[in-house]
Amino acid sequence: MTKKLYIETVGCQMNVLDSELVGESLCAAGYTLVDNVREADTVLFNTCSVRAHAEDKVYSALGRLKHCKKTARPKIVGVIGCMAQKDRDLIFKRAPHVDLVVGPGQLGQIVELLQRVEDGQEQQMEVSLGRADDTLHNVQRSFQPYDPLRGEHFREEASPSTPHQAMVRIMFGCDKFCTYCIVPSVRGPEQSRGPEEIVEEARQLAERGCLEVTLLGQTVNSYKHTAGGKTTRLADLLYRLDDIADLKRIKFVSNCPKHMSDELLQAVRDLPKVSPYLHVPAQSGANAVLDRMKRGYTVEQYREMLARIRETVPGAAVTSDFIVGFCGETDDDYQATAELVREARFKNSFIFKYSTRPGTKAHELFEDDVPYDVKRWRNNDLLAIQNAISLEDNRPLEGRRVEVLVEGPSKAARKKADDATTVQLVGRTIDDRIVVFDGPIEFTGRLLEVQIDKVDAFTLFGSLVGSGE
Ligand code: SAH
Ligand code: SF4
Ligand code: F3S
Repeated sequence: MTKKLYIETVGCQMNVLDSELVGESLCAAGYTLVDNVREADTVLFNTCSVRAHAEDKVYSALGRLKHCKKTARPKIVGVIGCMAQKDRDLIFKRAPHVDLVVGPGQLGQIVELLQRVEDGQEQQMEVSLGRADDTLHNVQRSFQPYDPLRGEHFREEASPSTPHQAMVRIMFGCDKFCTYCIVPSVRGPEQSRGPEEIVEEARQLAERGCLEVTLLGQTVNSYKHTAGGKTTRLADLLYRLDDIADLKRIKFVSNCPKHMSDELLQAVRDLPKVSPYLHVPAQSGANAVLDRMKRGYTVEQYREMLARIRETVPGAAVTSDFIVGFCGETDDDYQATAELVREARFKNSFIFKYSTRPGTKAHELFEDDVPYDVKRWRNNDLLAIQNAISLEDNRPLEGRRVEVLVEGPSKAARKKADDATTVQLVGRTIDDRIVVFDGPIEFTGRLLEVQIDKVDAFTLFGSLVGSGE
C-alpha cells in the first residue's frame, strides 16, 4: 500500500525548494503526495523562523493534529526546516505527539529517519550544530548539502510548480548576521556549491523541458567558489548558464546591496537570458537604523548602488524588502525610509513589521520598543506609498506587447475546475511581472506574446497575440 504524504510549507523559496526535494526523495521511496492533511498518513511541516508569526502558525497546526493523530490519520507528524533547527527538542516538549524533527542541514537523511519512525522506533531528531557549538569547519560540515539531482519523480508528483521552471540552490547559509535575523543561526555558515554541479543540474533540467531557472542564495550575489586556484563568482556562473541552449531565462535571488558588483550588473545587461530583475533589500532608509541592523552600508551607499544599477541596466525591475518598527526606529527614521521608497521607485517592496527573534543580536542588545500600533501604521503607510509607485511602474506597459512564460491556470481558474478549453492563465515577463490572460491550458510552459490591455499595481491583464504558436 502506498503511504500518503502531505507537506505544508511556509517561509522563503529555500523552503519551497527543500519541500520539493524532500517530496521527490520520499516519492522515490514509495510515498504518494496528497494535497491535504486529512488524507495523509504522514504530515511534514517545513517551517520558517524568520518572524514569530510563522512559528506560531505551525505550533497551532501541530496542536490541531494532537487528537486526530490518536484516532486515525495522520499516523506520523514531522517538523522539518528552520524551526526544527532553532527549537529542536522544544518541539517535542510543546507538541509531544510529533515523531520527527529534522533541520535544514539534515534533510538528506529524511527517508531513513521516517523509516525508523515507521518501524516503531522512538522520536527521531537530527539537527546541525549551533554556530557557537564547535569550530567553523565542524559547524559547516554539520549543515550537509542537500541538492540531489532531480530524479524521475521530478515535477510529476513532487513539484508545486510547472516542469518549465525550477529553482536551483547555489549557496547555503549566511554569514552576514544582520542583528534582527535568525537565518544565519538556522541555515548555518555560508557555503557556495561548485559551479560544475550547478551547471550540470541546470543542463539536466533544461533537457527535461525546463525553460527558466531561479538561482537561490540568502545573499546570492556573494556567491564565490574557489577550486584549483580558480574563483567563480555569480557573474561567471551566469555566463556559463547562458550558454545552455535550451534554457531561456535565468533569475537569481536575493541580493545583498554590498555585493552588487559592476561585473554582475554588466552580465545582467549583456546576457539576453538573464532577467533584468534585481531583488536588493534595503531594509531601512535611515542610517542609525541600518547601523543598528548591522547591514554594513549607509543609505547614501545604497543610493549609489541604485544609481549604478539604473546606469548599467536601464529599465531593470528593482525590488526591495523593508522592516518597519525596528528597535529604536523614530518617526524621522521611518520618514527617511518612506523617502527612499518614493525616490528609488522600486517595482515592488515586501514590507515586514519587526518581530524580535530570540537568538539574534538585536534581541540580546536592543529593546523592541516600537509599539505594535506604530509598526502597523508604518507598514500600511509604506505599503500605500509603494503600491502607488508599483501602479505607475506598470502603467507604461498598457498597450504594449510582452513576452510571457506561461506558468499555468490562475488560482481562480483552478478553483472553478470545469473542463473549459480556455481558462485564465498566469505567466511572467522576463522582469518578473505577473501577467493574466485567457488561453488554452495546453499553453502552459510556452513563451508567448501577450498584448497588455490594463494594469494594476500587482498584475498586467492582457490578451494573447495570434494563436500562440
Ligand atoms: N536573505 C535574504 C532575506 C532573508 S529573510 C536577504 O538578505 O535579502 C527575508 C526578509 O525578511 C528580510 O529581507 C527582512 O526584510 C525580513 N526579516 C528578517 N528578519 C526579520 C525580523 N526579525 N522581523 C521582521 N522581518 C524580518
Ligand atoms: Fe538575514 Fe541579513 Fe543574512 Fe539576509 S543577509 S539572511 S537578512 S542575516
Ligand atoms: Fe524562513 Fe528559513 Fe527562509 S527562517 S525565511 S524559511 S531560510
